[in-house]
Amino acid sequence: MVNVVEDYLARDRAHKEGQRNLERRRAQETQSPNEPGADGWPKGRTRPKLRPIECPECGGDAAETEKGNVVCSSCAQAAEWGRFHDKMRQERLEKAGLLKEPLSKYTLDSFEADTAALRRARRVVVDWLMGFPYSHGESVLLWSDGYGVGKTHLAHAVHRELLITGSSVTFFFVADMLSSIRDSYNRDSEETEKGIVSRARSGNVLVLDDLAKEHVTERGRPWFHDLMLRIVDYRYNTGRSMLITSNASPDRFGEIVGGAAASRLYRMLGGRIVDMSGPDWRMK
Ligand SMILES: Nc1ncnc2c1ncn2[C@@H]1O[C@H](COP(=O)(O)OP(=O)(O)O)[C@@H](O)[C@H]1O
Ligand SMILES: [Mg+2]
Ligand SMILES: [Zn+2]
Repeated sequence: MVNVVEDYLARDRAHKEGQRNLERRRAQETQSPNEPGADGWPKGRTRPKLRPIECPECGGDAAETEKGNVVCSSCAQAAEWGRFHDKMRQERLEKAGLLKEPLSKYTLDSFEADTAALRRARRVVVDWLMGFPYSHGESVLLWSDGYGVGKTHLAHAVHRELLITGSSVTFFFVADMLSSIRDSYNRDSEETEKGIVSRARSGNVLVLDDLAKEHVTERGRPWFHDLMLRIVDYRYNTGRSMLITSNASPDRFGEIVGGAAASRLYRMLGGRIVDMSGPDWRMK
Protein backbone atom coordinates (compact mmCIF):
# COMPACT_ATOMS: atom_id res chain seq x y z
CA MET A 1 0.00 0.00 0.00
CA VAL A 2 2.69 2.41 1.09
CA ASN A 3 4.67 1.38 -1.95
CA VAL A 4 1.81 2.21 -4.23
CA VAL A 5 1.44 5.73 -2.74
CA GLU A 6 5.18 6.39 -2.86
CA ASP A 7 5.36 5.09 -6.36
CA TYR A 8 2.55 7.44 -7.39
CA LEU A 9 4.22 10.46 -5.71
CA ALA A 10 7.56 9.63 -7.30
CA ARG A 11 6.00 9.45 -10.75
CA ASP A 12 4.13 12.67 -10.13
CA ARG A 13 7.41 14.43 -9.15
CA ALA A 14 9.13 13.07 -12.22
CA HIS A 15 6.31 14.23 -14.44
CA LYS A 16 6.36 17.73 -12.93
CA GLU A 17 10.15 17.85 -13.24
CA GLY A 18 9.81 16.88 -16.89
CA GLN A 19 7.21 19.62 -17.43
CA ARG A 20 9.52 22.19 -15.85
CA ASN A 21 12.47 21.05 -17.97
CA LEU A 22 10.40 21.32 -21.11
CA GLU A 23 9.25 24.83 -20.21
CA ARG A 24 12.82 25.90 -19.39
CA ARG A 25 14.03 24.54 -22.73
CA ARG A 26 11.29 26.33 -24.62
CA ALA A 27 12.07 29.58 -22.82
CA GLN A 28 15.74 29.13 -23.63
CA GLU A 29 15.01 28.43 -27.28
CA THR A 30 13.07 31.66 -27.78
CA GLN A 31 16.11 33.60 -26.52
CA SER A 32 18.53 31.34 -28.27
CA PRO A 33 21.07 32.83 -30.66
CA ASN A 34 20.27 30.00 -33.03
CA GLU A 35 16.75 31.30 -33.59
CA PRO A 36 16.68 32.41 -37.27
CA GLY A 37 16.30 36.18 -37.87
CA ALA A 38 14.37 37.92 -40.64
CA ASP A 39 17.13 37.32 -43.20
CA GLY A 40 17.16 33.60 -42.49
CA TRP A 41 20.51 33.69 -40.70
CA PRO A 42 20.76 32.86 -36.97
CA LYS A 43 20.23 35.94 -34.85
CA GLY A 44 23.34 37.41 -33.34
CA ARG A 45 25.56 35.75 -35.90
CA THR A 46 27.22 37.76 -38.62
CA ARG A 47 26.23 36.67 -42.03
CA PRO A 48 29.14 35.02 -43.80
CA LYS A 49 30.67 37.49 -46.28
CA LEU A 50 30.08 36.25 -49.78
CA ARG A 51 32.85 37.08 -52.21
CA PRO A 52 31.53 40.13 -54.16
CA ILE A 53 32.14 40.83 -57.83
CA GLU A 54 34.46 43.79 -58.17
CA CYS A 55 33.24 46.84 -60.12
CA PRO A 56 35.72 47.30 -62.99
CA GLU A 57 35.30 51.10 -62.70
CA CYS A 58 35.78 51.75 -59.00
CA GLY A 59 36.51 48.40 -57.36
CA GLY A 60 33.32 48.57 -55.29
CA ASP A 61 30.83 45.74 -54.79
CA ALA A 62 29.20 45.10 -58.12
CA ALA A 63 26.54 42.88 -59.60
CA GLU A 64 26.00 41.46 -63.01
CA THR A 65 23.23 43.09 -65.03
CA GLU A 66 20.83 41.20 -67.27
CA LYS A 67 22.99 42.07 -70.26
CA GLY A 68 25.99 40.57 -68.53
CA ASN A 69 27.77 43.84 -67.68
CA VAL A 70 29.44 43.96 -64.32
CA VAL A 71 28.85 47.31 -62.63
CA CYS A 72 28.23 48.76 -59.17
CA SER A 73 25.13 50.80 -58.43
CA SER A 74 26.92 54.15 -58.11
CA CYS A 75 28.83 53.69 -61.36
CA ALA A 76 25.60 52.61 -63.08
CA GLN A 77 23.90 55.75 -61.81
CA ALA A 78 26.81 57.97 -62.85
CA ALA A 79 26.71 56.46 -66.34
CA GLU A 80 23.00 57.16 -66.59
CA TRP A 81 23.55 60.81 -65.53
CA GLY A 82 26.34 61.05 -68.08
CA ARG A 83 24.06 59.88 -70.87
CA PHE A 84 21.37 62.32 -69.73
CA HIS A 85 23.84 65.24 -69.73
CA ASP A 86 25.19 64.25 -73.16
CA LYS A 87 21.66 64.35 -74.53
CA MET A 88 20.93 67.76 -72.98
CA ARG A 89 24.26 69.08 -74.28
CA GLN A 90 23.51 67.92 -77.83
CA GLU A 91 20.09 69.53 -77.64
CA ARG A 92 21.54 72.86 -76.53
CA LEU A 93 24.15 72.83 -79.31
CA GLU A 94 21.54 71.86 -81.88
CA LYS A 95 19.15 74.61 -80.77
CA ALA A 96 21.98 77.14 -81.07
CA GLY A 97 22.73 75.95 -84.61
CA LEU A 98 26.24 74.87 -83.64
CA LEU A 99 25.99 71.35 -85.04
CA LYS A 100 25.63 72.48 -88.66
CA GLU A 101 28.20 74.08 -90.96
CA PRO A 102 29.68 76.61 -90.93
CA LEU A 103 29.21 77.12 -87.15
CA SER A 104 30.11 73.50 -86.39
CA LYS A 105 33.65 74.31 -87.60
CA TYR A 106 34.09 77.32 -85.30
CA THR A 107 35.69 75.59 -82.34
CA LEU A 108 38.59 76.38 -80.01
CA ASP A 109 40.45 73.39 -81.42
CA SER A 110 40.20 74.57 -85.01
CA PHE A 111 41.27 78.13 -84.12
CA GLU A 112 44.84 78.48 -85.33
CA ALA A 113 46.88 80.93 -83.31
CA ASP A 114 49.88 81.56 -85.57
CA THR A 115 50.55 85.19 -84.60
CA ALA A 116 51.20 86.79 -81.20
CA ALA A 117 47.87 88.64 -81.44
CA LEU A 118 45.92 85.45 -82.09
CA ARG A 119 47.79 83.60 -79.36
CA ARG A 120 46.84 86.34 -76.93
CA ALA A 121 43.21 86.24 -78.11
CA ARG A 122 43.08 82.54 -77.48
CA ARG A 123 44.73 82.82 -74.06
CA VAL A 124 42.47 85.65 -72.88
CA VAL A 125 39.37 83.75 -73.96
CA VAL A 126 40.46 80.47 -72.38
CA ASP A 127 41.48 82.13 -69.08
CA TRP A 128 38.18 83.96 -69.02
CA LEU A 129 36.22 80.74 -69.64
CA MET A 130 38.14 79.02 -66.83
CA GLY A 131 36.85 81.67 -64.43
CA PHE A 132 33.22 80.59 -64.84
CA PRO A 133 30.99 80.25 -62.96
CA TYR A 134 32.75 82.43 -60.38
CA SER A 135 32.82 85.53 -62.52
CA HIS A 136 31.17 88.83 -61.74
CA GLY A 137 30.51 90.41 -65.07
CA GLU A 138 34.09 90.07 -66.36
CA SER A 139 33.86 90.59 -70.09
CA VAL A 140 36.02 90.28 -73.21
CA LEU A 141 36.44 92.45 -76.29
CA LEU A 142 37.93 91.02 -79.49
CA TRP A 143 38.48 93.74 -82.06
CA SER A 144 40.43 94.25 -85.24
CA ASP A 145 40.96 96.86 -87.86
CA GLY A 146 39.92 94.55 -90.66
CA TYR A 147 37.85 91.45 -91.21
CA GLY A 148 38.54 87.77 -91.45
CA VAL A 149 40.89 87.50 -88.45
CA GLY A 150 38.76 85.00 -86.53
CA LYS A 151 36.67 87.18 -84.19
CA THR A 152 33.38 85.50 -85.11
CA HIS A 153 35.11 82.12 -85.12
CA LEU A 154 36.25 82.63 -81.50
CA ALA A 155 32.88 84.09 -80.49
CA HIS A 156 31.12 80.91 -81.61
CA ALA A 157 33.80 78.76 -80.00
CA VAL A 158 33.06 80.53 -76.71
CA HIS A 159 29.34 80.06 -77.34
CA ARG A 160 29.92 76.33 -77.78
CA GLU A 161 32.17 75.94 -74.73
CA LEU A 162 29.69 77.72 -72.48
CA LEU A 163 26.76 75.64 -73.72
CA ILE A 164 28.78 72.47 -73.18
CA THR A 165 29.40 73.40 -69.55
CA GLY A 166 25.72 74.24 -69.13
CA SER A 167 25.97 78.04 -68.91
CA SER A 168 23.18 80.07 -70.43
CA VAL A 169 24.36 82.13 -73.38
CA THR A 170 22.58 84.58 -75.62
CA PHE A 171 24.26 85.10 -78.97
CA PHE A 172 23.37 88.12 -81.10
CA PHE A 173 24.81 89.11 -84.43
CA VAL A 174 24.28 92.82 -83.81
CA ALA A 175 22.98 93.60 -87.33
CA ASP A 176 20.38 90.82 -86.95
CA MET A 177 19.36 92.05 -83.53
CA LEU A 178 18.71 95.50 -84.95
CA SER A 179 16.68 94.22 -87.87
CA SER A 180 14.64 92.07 -85.46
CA ILE A 181 13.91 95.20 -83.46
CA ARG A 182 12.92 97.08 -86.61
CA ASP A 183 10.67 94.16 -87.62
CA SER A 184 9.12 94.17 -84.17
CA TYR A 185 7.56 97.55 -84.95
CA ASN A 186 5.31 95.76 -87.47
CA ARG A 187 1.86 95.16 -86.06
CA ASP A 188 1.90 91.42 -86.74
CA SER A 189 5.38 90.77 -85.42
CA GLU A 190 5.68 88.05 -82.79
CA GLU A 191 8.64 89.61 -81.01
CA THR A 192 8.62 92.96 -79.28
CA GLU A 193 11.53 95.32 -78.72
CA LYS A 194 11.08 94.76 -75.01
CA GLY A 195 11.30 91.01 -75.55
CA ILE A 196 14.53 91.33 -77.51
CA VAL A 197 16.06 93.59 -74.85
CA SER A 198 15.12 91.18 -72.10
CA ARG A 199 16.70 88.35 -74.12
CA ALA A 200 19.88 90.43 -74.39
CA ARG A 201 19.79 91.02 -70.64
CA SER A 202 19.32 87.35 -69.78
CA GLY A 203 21.83 84.56 -69.53
CA ASN A 204 25.22 84.27 -67.87
CA VAL A 205 26.90 85.55 -71.01
CA LEU A 206 25.78 87.79 -73.84
CA VAL A 207 27.76 87.55 -77.06
CA LEU A 208 27.44 90.61 -79.30
CA ASP A 209 29.08 89.75 -82.58
CA ASP A 210 30.15 92.59 -84.87
CA LEU A 211 29.37 95.74 -83.00
CA ALA A 212 30.04 98.60 -85.44
CA LYS A 213 29.46 102.26 -85.98
CA GLU A 214 27.68 101.61 -89.26
CA HIS A 215 24.63 100.01 -87.65
CA VAL A 216 22.63 103.20 -87.39
CA THR A 217 22.36 106.54 -89.15
CA GLU A 218 23.34 109.78 -87.45
CA ARG A 219 19.66 110.31 -86.60
CA GLY A 220 19.28 106.84 -85.09
CA ARG A 221 22.34 107.23 -82.88
CA PRO A 222 20.62 108.43 -79.65
CA TRP A 223 18.16 105.55 -79.98
CA PHE A 224 21.01 103.01 -80.38
CA HIS A 225 22.90 104.52 -77.42
CA ASP A 226 19.77 104.17 -75.32
CA LEU A 227 19.29 100.55 -76.41
CA MET A 228 22.91 99.69 -75.55
CA LEU A 229 22.64 101.41 -72.17
CA ARG A 230 19.50 99.46 -71.27
CA ILE A 231 21.34 96.20 -72.00
CA VAL A 232 24.82 97.02 -70.67
CA ASP A 233 23.64 98.80 -67.51
CA TYR A 234 21.50 95.82 -66.52
CA ARG A 235 24.31 93.36 -67.16
CA TYR A 236 26.81 95.56 -65.32
CA ASN A 237 24.54 95.81 -62.26
CA THR A 238 23.75 92.10 -62.15
CA GLY A 239 27.32 90.90 -62.81
CA ARG A 240 26.55 89.21 -66.12
CA SER A 241 29.41 88.88 -68.56
CA MET A 242 29.65 89.84 -72.21
CA LEU A 243 31.82 88.93 -75.16
CA ILE A 244 31.93 91.62 -77.81
CA THR A 245 33.55 91.51 -81.21
CA SER A 246 34.00 94.70 -83.19
CA ASN A 247 35.80 96.22 -86.13
CA ALA A 248 36.28 99.38 -84.07
CA SER A 249 38.97 100.09 -81.50
CA PRO A 250 37.71 100.47 -77.92
CA ASP A 251 38.52 104.18 -77.83
CA ARG A 252 35.69 104.66 -80.32
CA PHE A 253 33.16 102.91 -78.09
CA GLY A 254 31.88 106.16 -76.59
CA GLU A 255 30.84 107.17 -80.09
CA ILE A 256 29.35 103.77 -80.93
CA VAL A 257 27.45 102.74 -77.81
CA GLY A 258 27.33 106.10 -76.02
CA GLY A 259 29.39 107.41 -73.11
CA ALA A 260 27.34 105.86 -70.30
CA ALA A 261 27.31 102.35 -71.77
CA ALA A 262 30.99 102.63 -72.77
CA SER A 263 32.17 103.52 -69.26
CA ARG A 264 30.36 100.49 -67.80
CA LEU A 265 31.78 98.30 -70.58
CA TYR A 266 35.37 99.43 -69.88
CA ARG A 267 34.91 98.41 -66.23
CA MET A 268 33.58 95.00 -67.24
CA LEU A 269 36.38 94.48 -69.75
CA GLY A 270 39.27 95.29 -67.43
CA GLY A 271 42.39 94.07 -69.23
CA ARG A 272 40.55 91.60 -71.45
CA ILE A 273 40.73 93.72 -74.60
CA VAL A 274 42.45 92.03 -77.53
CA ASP A 275 43.53 93.68 -80.78
CA MET A 276 43.40 90.82 -83.29
CA SER A 277 44.31 92.95 -86.31
CA GLY A 278 46.19 90.98 -88.94
CA PRO A 279 45.86 89.47 -92.38
CA ASP A 280 42.44 88.34 -93.56
CA TRP A 281 42.21 84.55 -93.12
CA ARG A 282 40.11 84.23 -96.25
CA MET A 283 42.92 85.74 -98.35
CA LYS A 284 45.54 83.27 -97.08
N1 LIG B 1 42.80 81.96 -86.56
C1 LIG B 1 41.95 81.26 -87.32
N2 LIG B 1 41.96 79.91 -87.25
C2 LIG B 1 41.12 79.20 -88.02
N3 LIG B 1 40.19 79.73 -88.86
C3 LIG B 1 40.13 81.07 -88.94
C4 LIG B 1 40.99 81.89 -88.17
N4 LIG B 1 40.69 83.20 -88.45
C5 LIG B 1 39.72 83.16 -89.36
N5 LIG B 1 39.37 81.90 -89.66
C6 LIG B 1 38.34 81.47 -90.62
O1 LIG B 1 38.18 82.52 -91.57
C7 LIG B 1 36.81 82.82 -91.77
C8 LIG B 1 36.51 84.25 -91.35
O2 LIG B 1 36.74 84.41 -89.96
P1 LIG B 1 35.77 85.23 -89.01
O3 LIG B 1 35.87 84.66 -87.67
O4 LIG B 1 34.42 85.34 -89.62
O5 LIG B 1 36.46 86.66 -89.05
P2 LIG B 1 36.02 88.05 -88.42
O6 LIG B 1 34.84 87.81 -87.57
O7 LIG B 1 37.22 88.51 -87.67
O8 LIG B 1 35.73 88.94 -89.57
C9 LIG B 1 36.03 81.79 -90.98
O9 LIG B 1 35.69 80.73 -91.80
C10 LIG B 1 37.00 81.35 -89.92
O10 LIG B 1 36.76 80.02 -89.52
MG1 LIG C 1 32.84 88.57 -87.75
ZN1 LIG D 1 31.76 51.27 -59.46
